Amino acid sequence: MHPHINVHLLASRVAPKSFAGRTVVVIDVLRATTTIAAAVAAGVEEVIPCGEVEEARSWKQRDPRVLLGGERGGLPIEGFDLGNSPLEYTPERLAGRRLVFTTTNGTQAMLRCRQAGRVLLGAFVNLEALVQAVAGDPTIELLCAGRLGAISREDSLLAGAIVDRFQLRSPSTTISDEAALARDAWQAVSTRVKNGVSLAKTLRDGAAGRNLAAIGLDRDIYAAAQIDAVRVVPELDVARWWIRPMR
Ligand code: MLT
Repeated sequence: MHPHINVHLLASRVAPKSFAGRTVVVIDVLRATTTIAAAVAAGVEEVIPCGEVEEARSWKQRDPRVLLGGERGGLPIEGFDLGNSPLEYTPERLAGRRLVFTTTNGTQAMLRCRQAGRVLLGAFVNLEALVQAVAGDPTIELLCAGRLGAISREDSLLAGAIVDRFQLRSPSTTISDEAALARDAWQAVSTRVKNGVSLAKTLRDGAAGRNLAAIGLDRDIYAAAQIDAVRVVPELDVARWWIRPMR
């Protein structure tokens, strides 16, 4: 059987039961999945995604050793140890630690995957490692977090880049119309990148990128645009509800 890829450009539109038993890749380029990839590359013990700020705080009340990370409105949350900048997630701060993490869109997309068989996290920074990780799966669901209920440019582009690389390896792969749209958009951007327009500039032009630039976080956009900067694939274990490096 030929592999098949579905792309879901907006997580909030997807019924969680449609993922039952399937392989899902959650995508939130700016910045949740980029930051978690950085945390995993930095040697975090595990990341526990949670939907609400108060839920994260209650983890810390139970165990003061956990680190709290994430954002609301792009900004660090009061009393948290870390914001949502991938650059903060260094081995010095993260190695061997447990991180409880909550963001506006990315962790919400993860919560939609409770019924999935396998959940991996994708970003431009781990594109190749991710494509290799899903190479044997018959059906792959690429779930774009989007932003505040709207499709986001950078998540759609990464989904397209995954489809593009996957089809280069396995030309017989079949894809949904949303996957074809995302791939066509990525191919247009990729041509511009080859002609010298940086990927970071394209990411900055989307709504999430403009928001980050407005709050002085251009450097995070640049960090998120570093294709294949890390070799890790974070995996969300839905039974234990933690993220660790894929085994
Ligand atoms: C999110 O999950 O909503 C994002 O990562 C937002 C952000 O980084 O500002």
